[in-house]
Amino acid sequence: GIVEPLKVMISGAPASGKGTQCELIVKKFGLVHISTGDLLRAEVSSGTEIGNKAKEYMDSGSLVPDEIVTAMVTTRISGEDAKEKGWLLDGYPRSLEQAESLERINLRPDIYIVLDVPDEILIDRCIGRRLDPVTGKIYHLKNLPPETEEIRARLITRSDDTKEKVKSRLETFKNNAEAISSTYMDILKKIDGSRPKEVVFEEIVSFLLQVQKAKEKVSLL
Ligand code: AP5
Repeated sequence: GIVEPLKVMISGAPASGKGTQCELIVKKFGLVHISTGDLLRAEVSSGTEIGNKAKEYMDSGSLVPDEIVTAMVTTRISGEDAKEKGWLLDGYPRSLEQAESLERINLRPDIYIVLDVPDEILIDRCIGRRLDPVTGKIYHLKNLPPETEEIRARLITRSDDTKEKVKSRLETFKNNAEAISSTYMDILKKIDGSRPKEVVFEEIVSFLLQVQKAKEKVSLL
């Protein structure tokens, strides 16, 4: 039979490194990356109706209403591209309601990766984070400085990356984490995300290769 493509969810507190790892995962496995944060930021910067609704929630560091985000995700994930290449869902589900909406349409990942990072590190990572609006690449002033002066000059800071907002985003994450994890307990892999990004990535790769092998076996039955 045909080997089904990988279906991966990645979760973790703000600045735990989801975006950074997704960049690497996409390069290696060719999955379709669906990041609700990135999708929402794109809506905000193009000034769409969704963007205008989402903006105040995002700026204040709170969650955007479920119906907006869920509609966005279900459209992307049921697209031909995601079906064919597999998907990597980043930043969703973020509440029990969101996890339940996926369960209702029988959408389950093969693996649920949780990046685990202590609070002090998260705050430092948010404060030092910068985005390149041209390439979409994520930098950190200390940990991952831009390669050239030209890039440095165009870097932007996210409006929700202040110390106060990071703390409230972290609070929201903690309030929801357990309920979501319980939905995916059987496929949950917790990874120590405080190590260098290459080390974290190596562990993710080994998990994904295991999953891929298991799927190949199933296809031979
Ligand atoms: P979203 O964009 O998803 O933000 P987040 O979950 O807070 O995650 P971040 O993007 O802050 O961090 P990350 O884990 O990707 O870390 P990164 O790789 O950048 O969501 C933003 C907002 O959108 C939400 O607050 C909400 O309003 C709304 N939203 C999104 N999804 C929603 C949903 N489902 N429902 C409702 N609302 C939703 O890394 C961080 C920094 O650390 C970088 O500078 C990086 O260079 C550095 N770094 C990364 N890894 C390492 C490492 N291993 N060692 C050292 N430094 C590292």
